[in-house]
Amino acid sequence: MAKANSAKMLSSILVIGGTGMIGQHLVTASLDAGHPTAVLVRPATADADAGKAKLIEAFQSCGARLVYGDINEHEGLVAAIKQADVVFSAVGHSSREEVEGQLKIVAAIQEAGGVKRFLPSEYGCDVELAEQMLEPARSILGAKRRVREAVRAAGIPHTIISSNWFQGFLLPRAGNPEANGPPDNSVTIFGDGKLQVFFVNEKDMAAVAMKAVEDPRTLNKILHLRHPKNLCSLDQLVSLWENKIGKTLKKTYVREEELVKKVQESPFPLNFQLAVVHATLVAREAKLTEKTTTNGASSGDEVEATALYPDMNYVTVEHYLDSLP
Ligand SMILES: NC(=O)c1ccc[n+]([C@@H]2O[C@H](COP(=O)([O-])OP(=O)(O)OC[C@H]3O[C@@H](n4cnc5c(N)ncnc54)[C@H](OP(=O)(O)O)[C@@H]3O)[C@@H](O)[C@H]2O)c1
Repeated sequence: MAKANSAKMLSSILVIGGTGMIGQHLVTASLDAGHPTAVLVRPATADADAGKAKLIEAFQSCGARLVYGDINEHEGLVAAIKQADVVFSAVGHSSREEVEGQLKIVAAIQEAGGVKRFLPSEYGCDVELAEQMLEPARSILGAKRRVREAVRAAGIPHTIISSNWFQGFLLPRAGNPEANGPPDNSVTIFGDGKLQVFFVNEKDMAAVAMKAVEDPRTLNKILHLRHPKNLCSLDQLVSLWENKIGKTLKKTYVREEELVKKVQESPFPLNFQLAVVHATLVAREAKLTEKTTTNGASSGDEVEATALYPDMNYVTVEHYLDSLP
């Protein structure tokens, strides 16, 4: 993370959820791009979690401004938003309630006025397909869709970041959310292993997001990250792993019915992760997603990052795997 260079006249950014897994990439990218950056942090967070306390210190030492607040505390939230041109939300998906909490951010943005861009906490797969998903993905991603609709209905200038699966979660596990680590001798493959989805690097997503907030082409659009080299099936992913470790793995294919049962019987968050695997890589409907994701072109209210920012050095699935120990 570089020290903020506030000499450039870039938008001031507020990140809500900056201590989270994805939010921290947004804070870092914002500082690296030279934006005046504020992070809204709950007052008890640093005391409750030593790792997060260190992260907050690191943000501050790189020039981020710390604002204590909570999305459930309206006045403080409005005051924090009034100081920002751009608001990122990166609240988590631990429940429908956590996601819907963002409706309070929408209300605060309306009251504050003057926000040039809001980026709600999406950063995942197509939430328009939520109805076709298994629980708990249906409820949680359905809540994301309602937040999306509320942002549009309120007329708030926005950008939706659609980044499918992040590389950091499924790639080191060779596509199995249940795995404790990289495959050694055997691997589980859900479905027939043939459907493809995009795997996006977290840092790339955050760097793209920073370009997007200054870019009129992304205003009120869904911004996809669809690098052609990151479109990969579970079979292809396992084959890349086999090349990496120089071994043929024993493969167990899990049929869709078995996966559905597993989703129903697993605790959170595994059931959520498996339900998203089901929706994006296994279910019949995933073919619909594939159809809409294989085309990298920009059209209508959708734009695509590698078309808008072709000079960025995107991390591909293969490069990511090469970087793993
Ligand atoms: N596509 C993918 O593969 C993928 C993977 C993971 C996540 N995602 C998406 O990325 C987004 C962020 O998820 P995440 O896993 O990074 O979440 P996370 O690690 O659980 O972090 C959530 C953040 O929200 C903050 N927060 C929660 N409630 C708050 C409140 N009432 N007021 C203020 N801050 C609050 C938390 O603060 P504290 O530190 O105080 O708890 C934390 O900073 C979600 O939309 C998620 O679905 C996508």
